[in-house]
Amino acid sequence: MPIEVRPLEARDLKTSERIFREAFGTAHGVADPAHYMQDRNYIHSRWTADPAGALVAEIEGVVAGSVFAASWGSVGVLGPLTVDPRCWHSGVASHLLQSILENPRMRDARLPALSTAAGNVATVRLYQRHGFWPGFLIPILQKPLASAEGGVERGEGKAPAQPYSVLSEDLKSAARKRCAALTGALFEGLDLTPEMISVEMQALGETLLVGSDDCVDAFAICHCGAGTEAGEGACYVKFGAARSTGAFELLLDAVEAFARARGLGRIVAGVNAGRRTAYRLLLGRGFRAVSHAVAMVRGSAKSYDGPDAFVVDDWR
Ligand SMILES: CC(C)(COP(=O)(O)OP(=O)(O)OC[C@H]1O[C@@H](n2cnc3c(N)ncnc32)[C@H](O)[C@@H]1OP(=O)(O)O)[C@@H](O)C(=O)NCCC(=O)NCCS
Repeated sequence: MPIEVRPLEARDLKTSERIFREAFGTAHGVADPAHYMQDRNYIHSRWTADPAGALVAEIEGVVAGSVFAASWGSVGVLGPLTVDPRCWHSGVASHLLQSILENPRMRDARLPALSTAAGNVATVRLYQRHGFWPGFLIPILQKPLASAEGGVERGEGKAPAQPYSVLSEDLKSAARKRCAALTGALFEGLDLTPEMISVEMQALGETLLVGSDDCVDAFAICHCGAGTEAGEGACYVKFGAARSTGAFELLLDAVEAFARARGLGRIVAGVNAGRRTAYRLLLGRGFRAVSHAVAMVRGSAKSYDGPDAFVVDDWR
């Protein structure tokens, strides 16, 4: 049956959300796939952030799957890719992949990147057929903040960070440029501005800034709680970066204080295992892996996964 790929429109959101839950729920073997990850928001929030980076596939006019691409400046991040389990093994994902790779967010990226569950040989093979090669593992780390009694100690704690959302428009613009300067020094052209704007516009969480008035030494873009990429009770570090060990430590202090202040019971953060120093520091602070994704990069592009790259992200 012919498979048509077209831009995802507002009318497709409900079906695409359903397919997302059923696809991952079925892949993970849960009893009730229709309600899997109901506290998470990927489809709606990513489409709202960048509608031109979202596609659906249709079979006979019925939506059968969707795929997303986000532009982080010179880095194009592909995913999530989900297909209605009733349509698996019909080539829907391959059609979606071919089309999204022609989207400027991926086509023009210096580093076309994605991650997938490290144990999922079928998806690794699928992406490999479309030019992506597996690299380092990305341990998805979690740190519980709840006390033995189950409550989160809200406490004042150390909070050496400036919340981005309270700045004036001028200062926000300056902060975005300083964050882009920091990431650009890690990988030419890497720019998280779209994620900072998305988190603020959709009230998904907060961007925490560490540094002085004229320099950002570290920052973290955090999603908070249900209805975001974090899920109920979690603070998810979508992206964090620092210039030095000291700045990275301050950033982790800030994220922890922020999560406690919001009453969130755990921090979730993915770190590419190639970033050995950052990975070690996170483990030293009590973060533990709950799963492993694998980083995949298209072609021969080099990534920002050196041992001294102080970056937290998982390309999900
Ligand atoms: C992974 C996923 C997107 C694949 O979707 P799909 O539409 O079944 O993928 P395709 O049909 O394009 O390709 C899958 C396989 O079917 C095969 N296939 C393609 N067309 C086929 C056809 N007409 N008949 C039989 N097999 C076919 C492909 O060769 C491929 O084979 P492989 O397993 O040997 O690699 C889907 O299983 C899914 O939604 N999984 C849950 C979410 C997920 O893990 N997403 C990826 C990470 S974000």
